[in-house]
Amino acid sequence: MKLKIAVLPGDGIGPEISEQGVAVISAVCEKFGHQVDYEYALCGAAAIDAVGDPFPEETFQKCMAADAVFFSSVGDPKYDNDPTAKVRPEQGLLAMRKKLGLFANIRPVETFECLIHKSPLKDELVRGADFICIRELTGGMYFGEKYQDDEKAYDTNAYTRPEIERILKVAYEYAMRRRKHLTVVDKANVLASSRLWRQVAKEMAVKYPEVVTDYMFVDNAAMRMIQDPKFFDVMVTENTFGDILTDEGSCITGSMGLLPSASTGEHTPVFEPIHGSWPQAKGLNIANPLAQILSAAMLFEYFGLKEEGALIRRAVNASLDAHVRTPEIQIEGGTHYGTKEVGAWIVEYIKQS
Ligand code: IPM
Ligand code: MN
Repeated sequence: MKLKIAVLPGDGIGPEISEQGVAVISAVCEKFGHQVDYEYALCGAAAIDAVGDPFPEETFQKCMAADAVFFSSVGDPKYDNDPTAKVRPEQGLLAMRKKLGLFANIRPVETFECLIHKSPLKDELVRGADFICIRELTGGMYFGEKYQDDEKAYDTNAYTRPEIERILKVAYEYAMRRRKHLTVVDKANVLASSRLWRQVAKEMAVKYPEVVTDYMFVDNAAMRMIQDPKFFDVMVTENTFGDILTDEGSCITGSMGLLPSASTGEHTPVFEPIHGSWPQAKGLNIANPLAQILSAAMLFEYFGLKEEGALIRRAVNASLDAHVRTPEIQIEGGTHYGTKEVGAWIVEYIKQS
């Protein structure tokens, strides 16, 4: 297969983990005889500094021309602490999602046996937890009408029927391929937008009789996720709720540095770690590259290249078993491996296998 990948390393630890992810993609392509070409492009604070725009037109065109986007992270504290900043790195991410029509964000929450002790939850609650959160990504409050003056401000949580239908369709398709259990998360007891979600979901549920659909208010879902994470198989929810719940989901597994995600929709799909740019760790060679590397597995799987994805997952598990780990997940007394060393170990494993 011929793959053209737009690589957007972004800010903070982004460039370091990107480098390891790209090395893994190259190793896999070499092994399986795929031809891969990379186009690097700027986004986030790096793009603001260079051209004054967090998602420049040139970057957009490179993304459009690629088969997949391999994204790392954006964000820089110099913008967080300046409420008057006109442009912010995060706007680059939002612009990318909107312009590429990436309405479906797939965030798996998987546990790794050897890291269960790192979870803030009790072992027996976490062991075997395995669910996917499907977050709507281009609608709701993030993109609805906004207003702000010194006395009043609002964001509008607008959703249309087609927007709800297309994300529910993605969710049902995932549920059909998994344990056939879909939880629709909303706040239908208070919000009109949620009531439309629930109405549309009830109509669609009839078309998927094999799937058990249940409906849960978001506050209850937040609680259930930590009380009984194994309850969930596939959950689907709107943009803002999905943002919050997936951060919660990520800590169930013990480290945010382990979770990849895929965003798909109308144009080129994007594969990225769910964690942010961790600016404090920039350049220190301590960031965990595994979420980025697992995003590469999701990338191959998206194109139907299952063996390629499986090899990456095996390599990641082997690295964990061999205790080749970055400091935040290392066992007590174990050697601290750097971002580069973990990446290199995984690349070597792929080459040798
Ligand atoms: C995420 C992030 C983004 C979001 C930010 C950086 C804009 O938190 O991908 O979850 O809120 O969607
Ligand atoms: Mn988030």
